Amino acid sequence: MPRGLFITLEGLDGSGKTTQIKRLAAWMSRRGLPVAQTRQPGGTGLGDHIRAILLDSRSTDVAPMAEMALMFADRAQAIAEVIRPALDAGTMVLCDRFTDSTEAYQGGGRQLGSEVVLELHRLICGNLQPDLTLLLLPGFEVSLARARRRNDRVEQQTGASEGRFEQEQDDFYHRVWQKYREIAARDTGRVVLIEGDLTIDDVHEQIVEAVAERLVLFDQKA
Ligand code: TYD
Repeated sequence: MPRGLFITLEGLDGSGKTTQIKRLAAWMSRRGLPVAQTRQPGGTGLGDHIRAILLDSRSTDVAPMAEMALMFADRAQAIAEVIRPALDAGTMVLCDRFTDSTEAYQGGGRQLGSEVVLELHRLICGNLQPDLTLLLLPGFEVSLARARRRNDRVEQQTGASEGRFEQEQDDFYHRVWQKYREIAARDTGRVVLIEGDLTIDDVHEQIVEAVAERLVLFDQKA
C-alpha cells in the first residue's frame, strides 16, 4: 500500500488556515480519498495538555527553550500516535502547523535560530518532512488584527484564554513573518506560498491546484 500524502498548513495566527484545512479535507473526501485532520500543538491526549500550558496567557515567564521543547514533545507524540500510523495506512494527513511553525515562532520570533530547530527535528521527529506545505501569508496587519479579535471573542464566550502568542508585540510577529518567507525561499520544492489579501475562494482554489498536482505525482508512484 502506498504511504499517504503528508500535507501541512502554515501561516501567521489569523491567516485563515482553519477554514482552508476544513475545505481541503472536504474536497479530498469528495474525491474518495481517506483523510485524517490534526493540529499542533494538540491532536492527542498528551498534546492537548501541552497545548493548554503553551497557549494559556497565564503561563508567564516560559523560557524560549522550554517552549520549544514542549512544541517538540507535542510533535513527537503526534507523529507516533496519529501521523505515522495514518500515513502508513495510506491515509492523507492534513496537519494544521508542523515544524515550520517552530522554526518561524521559536527560531524567528523567539530568536533561537533555525539550526537548533532543524537539529531537534532530525533527532526527535526522525526528520519527517511534509510532501507539501501550504503557507498562507495574507497581509500582515490583516492577519494580526483578525487573530486578536478572534482571541477576544473566544475568551468572552468560553472564559478560556488561548492568547499567549497573540499578546506578543508586532516586532515578534515581524520576525515570524520574515522566517516564514526564508523557509519558503529555501524549500521551494515543498512549500507553496499563497500570499496577499485573496478571498477565501481564491485561496481554496490555489490550494486545490497545488494538492491536485501532488496527487498526480502520488498516483504515478503508486
Ligand atoms: P492556534 O490557536 O492553533 O493558532 P492558529 O489557529 O492561529 O494556528 O495556536 C497555536 C499557536 O502556537 C500559534 O500562535 C503559533 C504557536 N506555535 C508555536 O509558537 N510553535 C509551534 O511549533 C507551533 C506548532 C505553534
